[in-house]
Amino acid sequence: ATQLAGRHFLKELDFSAEEFRGLIGLAAELKSAKRAGVEVQRLRGRNIALIFEKTSTRTRCAFEVAAADQGASTTYLDPSGSQMGHKESVKDTARVLGRMFDGIEYRGDSQATVEELAAFAGVPVFNGLTDDWHPTQMLADVLTMTEHSDKPLEEIAFAYLGDARFNMGNSYLVTGALLGMDVRIVAPRSYWPAEEIVAEARGLAEVSGARITLTEDVAEGVRGADFVATDVWVSMGEPKEVWDERIAALGPYAVTMDVLRATGNPGVKFMHCLPAYHDLGTAVGREIHERHGLTELEVGDEVFESEHSVVFDEAENRMHTIKAVLVATLADA
Ligand code: CP
Ligand code: NVA
Repeated sequence: ATQLAGRHFLKELDFSAEEFRGLIGLAAELKSAKRAGVEVQRLRGRNIALIFEKTSTRTRCAFEVAAADQGASTTYLDPSGSQMGHKESVKDTARVLGRMFDGIEYRGDSQATVEELAAFAGVPVFNGLTDDWHPTQMLADVLTMTEHSDKPLEEIAFAYLGDARFNMGNSYLVTGALLGMDVRIVAPRSYWPAEEIVAEARGLAEVSGARITLTEDVAEGVRGADFVATDVWVSMGEPKEVWDERIAALGPYAVTMDVLRATGNPGVKFMHCLPAYHDLGTAVGREIHERHGLTELEVGDEVFESEHSVVFDEAENRMHTIKAVLVATLADA
């Protein structure tokens, strides 16, 4: 993975299939090493800035634990705790942080912001989620798929149901296309990824041999799938007012036991990047229950808590895969 030294990690399209697979292989090695108690620290003395303009549990903790395991330090900057965007431009922030840190993680709305940080920081910049892409999540999801399937990646079929015109849908489509997988995007047409992204994915598929399906038909979309994934119907930064239209449009795409049965695969696994709105114990869950009378949204407890669900392996793998990104880009060769 040393050929990634000094590189940014901004979106899947910046990587070759070989590079992407290399990161997943490195993550698997780092995971085994940690479990066996033989992890070697390759980032001692490195300092990493973590800029979060949106909230996070997994991504922030994954960066912090991964860095600590490897001997690096982290500094967390929340939206109110830095000058960026309020009193100081992205370009200036990039040049300041680049003088102090060896790497910078950024989570926020705009892909243009993380790209601008990368253009001016002079050190590797990592995308911890924008409205367009969630590339570190894709490393974790593909690692999780390899752990829960005996098939080579090119033979794995996965279906993503729900809002596919945002970060998770875009990233799944492009990642599956890059790696030569059988990718199904299952959503109402108006929730499919943008035309340019579909075109990019089709271009990648010509090289990789990926099979790409975009369909409004749930039964057709999930048939034969090894993995069925979904995400929240309303993402961070979107107004509450969109819940009504999302529930109406995406309701038929909720991942229920019937959907899992429609795969025809008794061993099918369920994935979700989390956080998930299956839990009425959360404030958002309660509010939606009160306003809309719903007890389940993109997924319910029946699937989430079932033996099909691999969501906590997926969450753990955020840490091992983010560690792989840090080691590959920041460690000495
Ligand atoms: N999946 C994910 O990115 O989770 P967080 O928002 O908690 O970081
Ligand atoms: N689509 C979700 C993913 C969260 C990890 C969001 O952007 O809020």
